[in-house]
Amino acid sequence: MEPMTARPTTVAPLSLAELAALTSSVADDVSAGLHEVHADEENRWHVRLRCDDQVDVWLISWTQEQGTQLHDHGGSSGAFTVVSGELSEAVWTPGAEVLRETSRSAGDAVLFGEHYVHDVRNVRPEVAVSVHAYSPPLSQMNYYDVDGHQLTRLASVWTDDPEAPAPDLRAAS
Ligand SMILES: [Fe+2]
Repeated sequence: MEPMTARPTTVAPLSLAELAALTSSVADDVSAGLHEVHADEENRWHVRLRCDDQVDVWLISWTQEQGTQLHDHGGSSGAFTVVSGELSEAVWTPGAEVLRETSRSAGDAVLFGEHYVHDVRNVRPEVAVSVHAYSPPLSQMNYYDVDGHQLTRLASVWTDDPEAPAPDLRAAS
């Protein structure tokens, strides 16, 4: 008898190249006006455009100073493409043990494997819009803090929503 697995699936995850092609293609659709985009200064606006056994795709808008906490994506790889505006991405760089900050402009596509730890934020007045994809579909996120050159995991949550409110990290730490 076959052993039971926690998450039976016969669908192979998308490759990083396929993820980047997907977010770029959906970003083109957004630019062409095929998807409604809203902005919400209270809660970062987001909508799931696709979810199946292989991949989930999210459309997100960021008003000024809206951002994530430092996080990874559990066992998922992913990609995102900036549709408009500009995002600032801080990426934890193993080896150097530092956060490196990079500006991501319209048309930029970023792809990442399962061990990628980043923090994304809009520091500009203009609303930023981006398309994100995760494969296998997002199921877990870990949240981190950096103390000097030390990356410390503060919390781990099971979620299928990359925009779910982060746990109260100070209380969790
Ligand atoms: Fe992320």
